[in-house]
Amino acid sequence: MVISSLDTRARQAEVQTSEERYRAVRQARQVESLATRRRILRWVIRLGTGAFSLALLLPALALRSLTREVTEVASGDTLVYASGDHSGLPVDVAALAPGTAVQAFPQGKSDNERNLVELVRLAGDLPTGLVAYSAICTHLGCTVLPQLSAQGYIICPCHGSVFDPAVAAAVVHGPANRPLPALPIGVLPEGHVVATGGFEGPVGPV
Ligand code: FES
Repeated sequence: MVISSLDTRARQAEVQTSEERYRAVRQARQVESLATRRRILRWVIRLGTGAFSLALLLPALALRSLTREVTEVASGDTLVYASGDHSGLPVDVAALAPGTAVQAFPQGKSDNERNLVELVRLAGDLPTGLVAYSAICTHLGCTVLPQLSAQGYIICPCHGSVFDPAVAAAVVHGPANRPLPALPIGVLPEGHVVATGGFEGPVGPV
C-alpha cells in the first residue's frame, strides 16, 4: 500500500512537470509570434511612410517645374551682370562702350539659364544703339560668346553660327537658321537697363 501511494505521487509529479513544460513551450511560441507580428507591422508602417512621402514629393516637384516658368524674363526686370566682378549688380549703360557686349540676367532670375541676355551697344553714333537678344544659340542651344567679333557680330563657339546684332540678330552664317530672339528693353534715368517685355520668339532650338 505504501509503495502504491508513492507511485501515485511520482506519476502526479511527472504529469505536473510535463504540463509546466507544455505551458513554457506555448508561452515561448506566443512571444515569438508576437515579435514576428511586430516586425511585419514595422515594415508595413515603413512602406506606408515611404509611399506617403512619395505622394507628397511628386506634387512638390510638379509645382517646382511650374514655378520655373514664372522665372522667365518679363517686363520690369532689371538686367544685372551675369558674371565678373560686378556679377549680380545692375548693368550700367555708361560703362558699356560702343561696339561691345555684355551678358546679363534679369535680376533674381539667374536660376533659369534660358534667361541669359546678350546686351549689345552697337558701334557708331546711333540714337538706339542698345539692343538685347537671347544669348542661347538657335541652332542647338549653346551659349553665344559675350564678346563681339572684330566685325561686331555675335558668335556661337559650338558650330560657328554668326548673328548680326545691328540687323535684328539675323543669321550671317549657319548652321543656325533663325535669328536670336530679341528682348525689348528700356533705360532708366540712372542708366540701368530694364526689360519691357519677354523674348519676342522661342529661346534656343525649336
Ligand atoms: Fe550654336 Fe551650333 S549651337 S552653332
